[in-house]
This record gives sequence, structure tokens and C-alpha cells, in this order.
Amino acid sequence: MPWAVILGLLAALLLLLLLSRRRTRRPGEPPLDLGSIPWLGYALEFGKDAASFLTRMKEKHGDIFTVLVGGRYVTVLLDPHSYDSVVWEPRTKLDFHAYAVFLMERIFDVQLPNYNPSDEKAKMKPTLLHRDLQALTEAMYTNLCTVLLGDAAEAGGGWHEMGLLDFSYSFLFRAGYLTLYGVEALPRTPQSQAQDRAHSADVFHAFRQVERLLPKLARGSLSAADKDRACSAKGRLWKLLSPARLATRAQRSSWLESYLLHLEEMGVSEEMRARALLLQLWATQGNMGPAAFWLLLFLLKNPEALAAVRGELEQVLPRAEPPVSQTATLPPKVLDNMPVLDSVLSESLRLTAAPFITREVVVDLALPMADGREFALRRGDRLLLFPFLSPQKDPEVYTDPEVFRYNRFLNPDGSEKRDFYKDGKRLKNCSLPWGAGHNQCLGRGYATSSIKQFVVLVLMHFDLELVSPDVEIPEFDLSRYGFGLMQPEHDVPIRYRIRP
Ligand code: HEM
Repeated sequence: MPWAVILGLLAALLLLLLLSRRRTRRPGEPPLDLGSIPWLGYALEFGKDAASFLTRMKEKHGDIFTVLVGGRYVTVLLDPHSYDSVVWEPRTKLDFHAYAVFLMERIFDVQLPNYNPSDEKAKMKPTLLHRDLQALTEAMYTNLCTVLLGDAAEAGGGWHEMGLLDFSYSFLFRAGYLTLYGVEALPRTPQSQAQDRAHSADVFHAFRQVERLLPKLARGSLSAADKDRACSAKGRLWKLLSPARLATRAQRSSWLESYLLHLEEMGVSEEMRARALLLQLWATQGNMGPAAFWLLLFLLKNPEALAAVRGELEQVLPRAEPPVSQTATLPPKVLDNMPVLDSVLSESLRLTAAPFITREVVVDLALPMADGREFALRRGDRLLLFPFLSPQKDPEVYTDPEVFRYNRFLNPDGSEKRDFYKDGKRLKNCSLPWGAGHNQCLGRGYATSSIKQFVVLVLMHFDLELVSPDVEIPEFDLSRYGFGLMQPEHDVPIRYRIRP
């Protein structure tokens, strides 16, 4: 045997020995499960179907345990009553940003000099709330009309077929992009709107090519062909989002203005700014489309729910002052008075929002559980909450948790239902699509109003039906656990036409 091979084998053996120096559980720590493969631990099972894996681990160890996943020790907490002791801890103990920065580099090739997440958050937060939120909501309605009604008018009357995910994702994304990143010209003309439609479609097309590969990009498991595809789509998007191109756009949101100023103040290069803008495009637009997809699919599969939402709309629209037909926006009174649609949205998110809520353990600390137990966490480990399993799919909290019930979040008097119980105790957070605590989603007001406006516009202006009414609700694409909204394994064909 040549020496090189022998040396290689010896090195591999040494590495294996080093890797298999196993960690042991210390007193006071959660149950520890290292799996059977040195270093990798449970990485393969976790990556394949995190929800099934974590369900199995919960059955084996209870609602807190530590597992080895690709060289990292991850403590998983699945008791929703105890989530507050994590999500309200200060950054000096449990850090939200370390993992976000890792993903930022790995997926979007973004490295920001002098990056201070708290400073960034303080600057960006006001641009998504109060008066700015109202301005975003109004701009979103106009842009939804531009892309949704404009495309339909261009395509002409009669029925059209496409996938429901494609339909929901493309229109919400394109309108959302125009709302945050600006439009071709103000005042809008038929030509500028046609350009807005074409340009936003271009951005969406390139974005989807990157976004489809996201789980693989995050895990670093792209094939050579996928790598090429991702690189060329990212390159195209960096051009489309370059600060020079954005400088020419009209009606840019105050969110974009503040973010560009923030990047400039940090001394970020032009090239890196375009990369950061792509990262933000994903963070702001990656979940709304899939959320609207599930909502519409559940409505199409549940005629009673669809009739209830339509009934609510028929009641609330005629009462709008001024009448909706005479305004360029939906009066807030319409959007704020749709408890049935709110319940449908909450129920859709309960069933399909599956983000990982991750924190890095910055110092050794004791984690108090709601039932009085306390567990020691080690510095350098990762802490993971997965509300999708509990409370969202917990049969103790929700009867028949797999079933879509449009009125699950409604009280008998029609008001919003917030009282859900586990272990006889009311849950503070009964569903966590937006996370919770210090790092709860800042865009949730804008996202909610955008999804609702999209659904209202679709119901007001379109006939929409499933190509095969008996089609089953598709399974999830299992590789997407952790990234926010789940996506279906395959799209669902629909047929739609604009009402004359
Ligand atoms: C259906 C749509 C959306 C969903 C389901 C969603 C969900 C989430 C989740 C789960 C988190 C992380 C919470 C944590 O780890 O503790 C988050 C954070 C965040 N989201 Fe969203 N999001 C959505 C849309 C948006 C939009 C449209 C924007 C902005 C326009 C936005 C801005 C943010 C920001 C800035 C953060 C970070 C907060 C921080 O650093 O503390 N999100 N979102």
C-alpha cells in the first residue's frame, strides 16, 4: 500500500478518535442524546425532516433535551409555557443575531463591517410602524392593483390556469417589492405601470431561482449545477438591486431610505450594499406569498369557510366610507373589521408557520422552566424553540390539531378567541408564527395587512377555483422546516378569471 494512502487512513482514524471524544451530561443539564455517528450526531435526520425527528426526541426525552447536530450541541425546548424565559432574555445571555449573521454570510454572501444589530434595529423599527405602516399599507394596495388587476387585464378575459403557489407568491412578492423598493415613476402612467409589472416579474423570477435552493444553500449541500444556477441568479439580482439602479426609483419607502442610509453610515461598499438588499428582499418577502397560498388553498378546500369570508366581506364593504369603488386604498375600517378573515389567517399560520427560534448561549446559565424545574445550559451551545410542534400542533391545546377550522380563533360572539390551555394553564402565546419577545417580527403589521388586502382583492375581482376540486392538500417540502412558512412539495393548479 502506498505511503500516502496509509498516512491518509491514519489521519482519518485520528480524526475519528478526536471526534468521538464524547461529551457527557453534567448534573442539572437536560438529557443528552449524541446519536450514533461521531460529530454528525443527528444531522441527517434533523435535515431530512426536523418535525418528525423532534417529535421522536420529545417522546423519548420530554420537553427539553440536548442533541448533537453536525458538531453543534442544540438544546431543544418544547414547553410553550417556558418560552418566555428564553425570548425575553437579554442578548448578553441568549443571542439572536449570531445565527442570523452566519446565515447572512452563508446564503447571501453578506459581510458588513462594523455591523451592530441593535443599532440597525433601532433605525429600522420606526419605518414599519404607525404612520409609516399606514403609508406602506396604502402603497401595497396600489401596487397589488397594478400587478394583479393589471396582469389580468393584459391577459384578457376568460379562464387562465397556473399554480396557486406561483399565483400567490408572484403577486404578493411583486407588489411587496414595488412597495419597499419603489416604482418606475410618479405620477403613475399606463406605461410606467406596465414597466413596474415587467420589472417586478423579472426580479421575482430571479429571486425564486435563489429561494428554491435556500435549504441547500443554508446547509452547504448544493450540487455543482445548483451552485452555478444560484450564482447566476444572485448575480442578476445584485445588478437589479444595485444602489445606482435603485437611486432612479420613485416612491421609495422610508424603510429603504433608512436602510440605505444605515449601510452608507457603516461604510459598506456599493457591491456589498446590493447583496444586503437581496438579503432584505428575502427577509421581507419570503413568507407572505407562501402564507397567502395556504390561506387561499384552505378556503378553496373548505366551502363553508369561503362562504363565511365572502359573507363578511359583503357586510363590511358596503359600509366603507368613502365607498371602496371611489378610493385608491382599502379603508382601514374594512381591514380592521374582518374577524373571520383574521381567524382564517391565524389558523393557516398555525398549521404552516414553522420557524426555528434560535438563540446562541453566550454564558453558562440556568434556564427556569414554568413548572419549577431548572436546567443548566452551556456557553457555546445553541438553544432552539420549535413552536410548530407545541403549541401549534399540540393536541392538548387544539383538538384535531391537523384539521383546518376556519373559526378556531373566534369566540361564539364573533370576537377574537385568545384563550387556549395546556396543563390546565392559559397559554400566553398560543401560536408563534412571528416569534415572540425581543426579536418578534417587526413586519407583522405590514405582512398581515398585505396578505389580507391580497385576499380581499382576489375575492372582490376574481373567480378562482381548483382545477381538480378533489385534489389533496399537498405535503410539505420537508427540507424547509426552520425557515418560516412551509412550502408545498408541489404546486396546486388553479383556474382564475377576472370578473367582467
Ligand atoms: C408572513 C410573513 C412573515 C412571517 C411569518 C415572519 C416571521 C418572522 C419570524 C419568525 C421572525 C424571527 C423571530 C425570532 O427568531 O424570535 C421574524 C423576524 C423579523 N421580521 Fe418577519 N415575518 C414575516 C414578514 C416580515 C416582513 C414583511 C417584514 C418587514 C417588512 C419583516 C421583518 C422582520 C424583522 C426586521 C425581523 C427581525 C426582528 C429582530 O431583529 O428583532 N417580517 N419574522
